[in-house]
Amino acid sequence: MKRGLVILGAQWGDEGKGKVVDLLSADFSATVRYQGGSNAGHTVLIKGEKFVLHLLPTGMLHEHTLGVVAQGMVVDLELLVKEIEELESRGLSVRDRLFISDRVHLVMPYHKVLDSLFESKGKIGTTLRGIGPSYMLKYGRRGIRVCDLENPDRAYRLMKENMEFVHDLCEKVYCENHTLSLEEIFEKTLEHYRRIRDRVTDTTRWLLQYEGEVLFEGAQGTMLDVDMGTYPYVTSSNSSALGLSNGTGLPPRYFSNASFWGVSKAYATRVGEGPFPTELTGEEGQELRERGKEYGATTGRPRRCGWLDLVALKHAVEVNGLDGLVLTKLDVLDHFEEIKVCVAYQRGQDLIYHFPASLDTLLEVKPVYKTFKGWRKDTRGARSLSELPQGALDYLEFIQEYLGVPIVMLSTGPEREEYLWLRPYDLASLKTNTPSPAKDWKKTMA
Ligand code: IMP
Repeated sequence: MKRGLVILGAQWGDEGKGKVVDLLSADFSATVRYQGGSNAGHTVLIKGEKFVLHLLPTGMLHEHTLGVVAQGMVVDLELLVKEIEELESRGLSVRDRLFISDRVHLVMPYHKVLDSLFESKGKIGTTLRGIGPSYMLKYGRRGIRVCDLENPDRAYRLMKENMEFVHDLCEKVYCENHTLSLEEIFEKTLEHYRRIRDRVTDTTRWLLQYEGEVLFEGAQGTMLDVDMGTYPYVTSSNSSALGLSNGTGLPPRYFSNASFWGVSKAYATRVGEGPFPTELTGEEGQELRERGKEYGATTGRPRRCGWLDLVALKHAVEVNGLDGLVLTKLDVLDHFEEIKVCVAYQRGQDLIYHFPASLDTLLEVKPVYKTFKGWRKDTRGARSLSELPQGALDYLEFIQEYLGVPIVMLSTGPEREEYLWLRPYDLASLKTNTPSPAKDWKKTMA
């Protein structure tokens, strides 16, 4: 790899990674998805035309970019084929640029049945895309990988065993029926496989030998990471930087020269259940939802909204080793009279500055806020720092100083062109020209 950039969600997903990856991948020759599956919904708006990618790397929206679906993903082949065909029907060539890992695990119809069943018994608020059950069977050593489909007898046997297991779980444990047919599932899976078979390869070896620039595209966000997030209200993969090595099959050493950037909204959202200390349940929350159009790209569910939580964001900075932050949707705050950021949690008499593991603690804490006067001016589409009101600059400066990480870029609207660099950036070498974040920030604004 000539140079590498890792883009990670720094909150609970939906940070606007799709747009950021689309923008940045113009300077990369390959983009890689390596964890999660069709629970992701990466939205990109190009000249008014909307693209939502669930499985393919978003970078593939550039015709020159190769795309890798790496081994840590769980893939619903039917959806993958559909996504490829849909993009091709819109005039993009996809197949020839795509490489799918032979080690990828499949998401099968029975995983979705289990997802619904588990949700009906104890709600996590999943996307119902079968993600958790597919990882569950993977780690339980019952999963089916793409390479297994090369041998139909073996694939049939594995599917049969899986279906018997699911059947027993449904009927004997949960007393529920399902209407799945093994023969139908087997035929359809092989039919989808035939459509992508020539794109399947050992993507680990491919990446080890690849000499171009590679962008790694995280899905979901750090706070949904199965180990570092708000467990058990998380997704079933490592959606922080922890997932990079096992998700790509590449040694940790491979990433030693890569840059790690996190994407965060200027406020916070989450979908599904689980702790969310800065959640606003009243009018302000509703206003954030409407102004930010906070409805899920995959499920259409209204997102829970709240103020920016710097305790959680600092956790993301530390867990991912972030060296840059991309802030999105600042314009959504444009019309608020007051804007708050959470700088600590309070529990009884105690102030907590580090994101706690315990669910009980997380459900009990109250956010401690710093309040900013709203700037009440339009920042949408701003293309330079001088177009931002002082109030917005103060807000950004505070975030950066609290986190000790430079904000490298601001996304100022959904369109590809709506962004600005906050510091001189040399993408060719992926180094900021300015080593010290806090000091340099003041200089930039002077
Ligand atoms: P699952 O990944 O479908 O199992 O869902 C587990 C949790 O992660 C739920 O709270 C989902 O709402 C959340 N989640 C999964 N994928 C995304 C995403 O791409 N954006 C935001 N939340 C997600």
